[in-house]
Amino acid sequence: TLASASDNDLWEKSTLNQVLNRGELRVCAEAGYMPFDMRDKKGNIVGFDVDIGKAMAKAMGVKLDIRNTAWDGIIPALLTDKCDIIISGMTITPERNLKVNFTDPYIVVGQTILLSPKLKGKVTNYRDLNDAKYTIATKLGATSDYAVKRYMSQAKLNLFETESEGVLEVVNGNADAFVYDLPYNAIYSAQNEGKVLHLDDSFTYEPLGFAIRKGDPDFMNFLNNYLAQIKGDGTYDKIYRKWFAS
Ligand code: ARG
Repeated sequence: TLASASDNDLWEKSTLNQVLNRGELRVCAEAGYMPFDMRDKKGNIVGFDVDIGKAMAKAMGVKLDIRNTAWDGIIPALLTDKCDIIISGMTITPERNLKVNFTDPYIVVGQTILLSPKLKGKVTNYRDLNDAKYTIATKLGATSDYAVKRYMSQAKLNLFETESEGVLEVVNGNADAFVYDLPYNAIYSAQNEGKVLHLDDSFTYEPLGFAIRKGDPDFMNFLNNYLAQIKGDGTYDKIYRKWFAS
């Protein structure tokens, strides 16, 4: 029938079909975002995202290829077919959603603040930082960048390619605060006691999702059902506990 001819066409073009034919799932991720995507001592990328990617590839019966990709080029990399999917703690935003499609959220986070200990008691929330006398550091092109521009527009903003460069500014006394996703800040402050103060009330709502190219209902259907499955059968909880247990 006519309907099945065009359905076949869609499946032929689906990224999922290509992944199965290739025998490999290519994932774009950027290491440096704890505990989602990080380097271990041997230099391998590990983390919450990597374990979800591994489980996903296994369910597809294919190999996993993690491709480290700079954050500001990660959407272009997906759009030019350097990978099949972005699994990299990416916040689902309306702006990004105009360029890519997102799966259902796999976790929800928000922005928090790593404050210079010198400002203890003087700054107690994000509103206090909205002042020209303060300098804020964060990562270029991350939702933290957009959040500072929106909620702390009076402050001076210094942008860095990586999370670690940004947060070091606070430790070295070059910035008053580092704004970033809560899980990263929680781990950093636990590992660097006394160097930063974590104001851990999230002031944004940020569902994180996997991004794929537009126009691919077959791949999207697999991914959302896969997410629902692992959330229900204990796989997700097991991976979550491994990386978020404190
Ligand atoms: N959730 C933030 C965003 O979407 C930060 C994610 C950064 N991820 C990374 N792998 N470096 O902008």
